Amino acid sequence: MDKSAIVRLEKVGVTYQNKLVALESVSLQLNRGEFAVVLGASGAGKSTLLRTINHLTPPTHGRVIVDQLGELSKSPILRLHRKRTGMIFQQYQLIERCSALENVLMGRLAYHSFWRSLAPLPQLDQKIALQCLERVNLIDKALTLVKNLSGGQKQRVGIARALAQQPQLMLADEPIASLDPASSHQILSLLREICKTDGISALLSLHQVDFAKEYSDRIIGLAHGRVIFDGPPSRLETHHLEEIYTGQSLAAVI
Ligand SMILES: Nc1ncnc2c1ncn2[C@@H]1O[C@H](COP(=O)(O)OP(=O)(O)OP(=O)(O)O)[C@@H](O)[C@H]1O
Ligand SMILES: [Mg+2]
Repeated sequence: MDKSAIVRLEKVGVTYQNKLVALESVSLQLNRGEFAVVLGASGAGKSTLLRTINHLTPPTHGRVIVDQLGELSKSPILRLHRKRTGMIFQQYQLIERCSALENVLMGRLAYHSFWRSLAPLPQLDQKIALQCLERVNLIDKALTLVKNLSGGQKQRVGIARALAQQPQLMLADEPIASLDPASSHQILSLLREICKTDGISALLSLHQVDFAKEYSDRIIGLAHGRVIFDGPPSRLETHHLEEIYTGQSLAAVI
């Protein structure tokens, strides 16, 4: 595998049980330190693509190969890969009745056995979780219940939880889809700054072209389960956008 690669997809295809082809022969390599965005209309296969990268959705065809571990197929490899892969979700996937700190501590669970994780985690984990909250500027909300936070603050807790895993790769599925434009800018710039500072590779899915162009180093354009563009934002042209958003008004996404 190429030295700069962190994950490589080889002809990855996903067909769901209802025979729907969600991804078709996707081959691509994610590189170290890259901040990449998958851009596509609703149903293009963005979530499916992200989920194949840690086998939450195992590919029906093809292979996912990860740096230093090899092909994602056997469970010890998958466990190690998931441990070093942080995930961020559109709906945050936080436990609302727990505090921000307790949620961030969940990011440390992969470092402990099941039985150990039933007891309070060691001080080192608490320290890491607090540092992560500090990095997303939420230290003053550490003990606030998540249900009492705003959407933007919840997503910052989501980022802190992923960061507490000390990941090499971040996968973020529509991280700003539930946020207003101001919070969206705040979240994307924070995420980019953290990933760049820590050398974490990131793959985000978005459906807004402007945000993808402003924050990414690389855009992967997906249409009907196929990669139709892969390159720097400066090379993305109107005809690519037309292909990505076939049938949708471009005015609605730009
Ligand atoms: N579990 C599933 N079972 C069957 N079909 C599915 C399943 N998940 C997704 N699909 C279908 O696969 C296709 C790709 O879905 P996917 O969720 O990956 O798209 P997406 O680009 O993330 O869309 P959105 O922007 O709406 O989140 C869609 O046609 C969807 O209906
Ligand atoms: Mg999706």
